[in-house]
Amino acid sequence: MSTKRPISTFTYRLARLLRTSIPLSGTKQVRFATAPTFRRKVAVPIVFENNRPTWAEISLRNLRDNFKSIQRYVGPQVQICAVVKADAYRHGLVECSTALQEEGATWFGVTSTEEGVQLRRAGIQGRILLMTGFWHGDEDAIIAQGLTPAVWENWHLVHLQQASRRHNSSMAVHLKVDTGMARLGVLPSNLGETTAFLQAHPEIRLEGIFTHLASAEELAESGTGGQLSSFREAVRSIRQAGFSPKYLHAANSAAIVSRSDARLDMVRPGISLYGYYLPFTGRTARPIPKVVPVLSWKTRIISMKCIVSGQRIGYNGTYTATRASRIAVLPVGYADGLNRQLSSQGKVLIHGECAPIVGRISMDLTLIDVTDVAGAQIGDEVTLLGASGQRAINAADHASLASTIPYEILCNISKRVPRHFTDHVAP
Ligand SMILES: Cc1ncc(COP(=O)(O)O)c(C=O)c1O
Repeated sequence: MSTKRPISTFTYRLARLLRTSIPLSGTKQVRFATAPTFRRKVAVPIVFENNRPTWAEISLRNLRDNFKSIQRYVGPQVQICAVVKADAYRHGLVECSTALQEEGATWFGVTSTEEGVQLRRAGIQGRILLMTGFWHGDEDAIIAQGLTPAVWENWHLVHLQQASRRHNSSMAVHLKVDTGMARLGVLPSNLGETTAFLQAHPEIRLEGIFTHLASAEELAESGTGGQLSSFREAVRSIRQAGFSPKYLHAANSAAIVSRSDARLDMVRPGISLYGYYLPFTGRTARPIPKVVPVLSWKTRIISMKCIVSGQRIGYNGTYTATRASRIAVLPVGYADGLNRQLSSQGKVLIHGECAPIVGRISMDLTLIDVTDVAGAQIGDEVTLLGASGQRAINAADHASLASTIPYEILCNISKRVPRHFTDHVAP
C-alpha cells in the first residue's frame, strides 16, 4: 500500500535500522506492509532484499592471482589491458576492476562508453579502452571522462575531432585494423584515408594500433599468422605516413599463449583472467599461465520428494525414474542462466558427491536426483559451478554439454543471481 502521510519517529527509526531510505521530513511516498491483524496500527516498511538462496561467489583473490600469473608470463615490459567488458564477463565490472587496479592493472578494456563511465565513477584511474568504438553522442562523455576510443570509421574521427575542438582539447585514440576477421576495423586498403585525416587533425593523437585475432587457439590454423603479417604491414604503412604509435596490440588470452609474436607492447586477456582458456587444438601449446576459475555458483535445496519407479519428471515428462528416487528441487533455472541444454545431462555437487540434473530445467527451478547422496535435505548447499569436497564442475563442463563456450556460460548467469565478493582463494 502507498501512502503520503507523515512518518512517525518510530517508523523512521525502524526504517533506518532496516537500512531503508525514508527522508526525515517524512512526507515522501513510502511503501508499507500492513499486517492484516494490526491494520492501521503498525506499519512496517518493506525491505527488498534478495533472499533467494541462489548466488555466485566471486573470488577476487583468484582474479588477482590470475592477473599476476599472466603478467609474469608476458613479462613486465608488456602492458596488460584487462578485459572487463560485459560486466567483467558477468563477474562484476566495478569490483573486479577495483581489485585489478590494486594489483597494478593500468589499462581496462570495455565495450561501451557506459561501461567506461561506470568505471570512472567507481574511481578507476587507469586508462580505459573502448574496444568496440562508440556511438553518436558519446563524444562529450569520452572527453570528460578521459576514455580512449577505438576508431576505424571515418565518422568516428570526424565526430571526435569536432568534440575535441568544442572542448579545446586533444585526445588519444587506438586505430583498429581489420586483418581478416571481417568484423570491426579499417581495412588495410583504406588506411590512406585514415592517416590523411589524422595528419590534418593533430588534436586526434594516434596512440595505438590494434587488431583482433579470430582463432588464436587453433595452433595449426594459418589464419593467425596471416592476420599478424597483415597487421605488421598495416603498421609499417602507418609509420611511413609519419606516425609513431606507442602501443601495438593484438593478443587475446589464447594468442598470449600461442603466439609470442602477437604480444607486442600490450596484451588484452579476458577469459583467462576469469580462469579459463578455450581448448588449444593442433600442435602442443607452450605452457599456459596457471589460472583458476573466479566464479562459483551455488544454490540450496528448497524442497524434496520421494517418487516411485516409472514416475515422469518435469515439463513434458522427458525423464522417467528407473527406480524409487529422492528428488530435490533447486531454486535456479534458465532465467538465472542455467543452460537448458543441461536438462537430464548436467550434474551438480552436493556434500562432495555428484547428483544428476533430471528432467527439463525450467525457468526458475531445476530437479536433481539425490537418491545416492546420503543425508541430502532441505537447506543443503548445492554447487552448480565450483568445488565441493574433492570434486569440481566448471564453466567448460557446462559449455561442452551445451555446445557452447565458457564465455557464454559465464555471461549468461543473469543479474537475478546476486554476486558475493570474497577475498578467499576459491578451490
Ligand atoms: C578486442 C578484444 N580483445 C580482447 C578480448 C579478450 O578475449 P579473450 O576473452 O578471448 O581473452 C576480446 C573479447 O572478445 C575482444 O573483443
